[in-house]
Amino acid sequence: STDLAALLAAKIRDVPDYPKPGVVFKDIAPLLGDAEAFAALVDHLAARSRELGATKIVGLEARGFILAAPAAYAAGAGFVPVRKEGKLPGELHRQAYELEYGSAVIEVQTDAFAPGERVLVVDDVLATGGTVEAALELIQRCGAEVAGVEVMMELGFLGGRARLAPLLGDAPLETVIAV
Ligand code: PRP
Ligand code: MG
Repeated sequence: STDLAALLAAKIRDVPDYPKPGVVFKDIAPLLGDAEAFAALVDHLAARSRELGATKIVGLEARGFILAAPAAYAAGAGFVPVRKEGKLPGELHRQAYELEYGSAVIEVQTDAFAPGERVLVVDDVLATGGTVEAALELIQRCGAEVAGVEVMMELGFLGGRARLAPLLGDAPLETVIAV
């Protein structure tokens, strides 16, 4: 809702020239540190998870973990970490994605989901969409179904939403704050 967006937006701090000159970093530390704002965000994510019928919530390392794990607990869903390369044991699916400079790899355990299980993806910020796109590829390769994507903030001018559309099908991409 607009009330939630206003509550959260007031607690996100713009940090100019971080991590490098010309970039405005969206610092969510004040939001996480505010008991009311943090609870309102987690409760919202958990409610959407239940409404979308998700049985697992995926968090994207690292900032996605902060939101996805409490949302999964509150929703009564399981939590699945999608991690950066080299952090998970056992049989994995791997997916490369582009960063501003170079590329990176994220991984998930192949047995993280039961076949056909409904999965909600949670992250803090949608920018170019590369991270979420790679996560959706991993989930689909596991044979699970994407129930939706919830991000706290979407940087619309970077075009992430259009990039994700082909992978989402009928699953919603929802953001609380659109910039
Ligand atoms: C940030 C942010 C999102 C991603 C968005 O994560 O938390 O996950 O970038 O960018 P994209 O839409 O262009 O992929 P980052 O990789 O900086 O790492 P962190 O979450 O571990 O801090
Ligand atoms: Mg991240």
